[in-house]
Amino acid sequence: MDTKSALHMAYTGEAKAALRLKVYAEKAEKEGYAQMAKLFRVIAFSEEIHGSRALKLLREVKGTEENLAASFESETHVADVSYNQFIKQAEAEGNNAAVVHFSQSQDVEEIHAKLYKEAMNHFMEERETTYYVCKICGYVSDGILPDECPVCSAKKDQFVTFD
Ligand SMILES: [Fe+2]
Ligand SMILES: [Fe+2]
Repeated sequence: MDTKSALHMAYTGEAKAALRLKVYAEKAEKEGYAQMAKLFRVIAFSEEIHGSRALKLLREVKGTEENLAASFESETHVADVSYNQFIKQAEAEGNNAAVVHFSQSQDVEEIHAKLYKEAMNHFMEERETTYYVCKICGYVSDGILPDECPVCSAKKDQFVTFD
């Protein structure tokens, strides 16, 4: 394995570990283990630092305009190709929970792509807005807190505000 592959493996491995540990922290919190939840969150943050350093060493982080374009491409691909395959597979196996998850994620990825496209079109403006994100399905609303999530029907108290 060359160094580039090793850096890529470190980046993806650490990114996965960080996410897994955050979910473990949520679980520990629910079970009433506040200190264990803190430990998982601390290690998750540390793994994120490892993942970020590896990613920066890969020199894949460009300027913001290019990063927006790359993010738009990747969202479009994920929505059109990856999630389509995932949905077909889960349908074939009759895994309805996975079908719902993949379909809702696909809808949200299309919205991500739209948000990037708009940002690219108004790149120099730095338009100020508040975003609202559904904690259940990840739906992102720009400027409006909906009464109900249009993707998964979660109520408005399930939204996290980014202002
Ligand atoms: Fe996305
Ligand atoms: Fe939702």
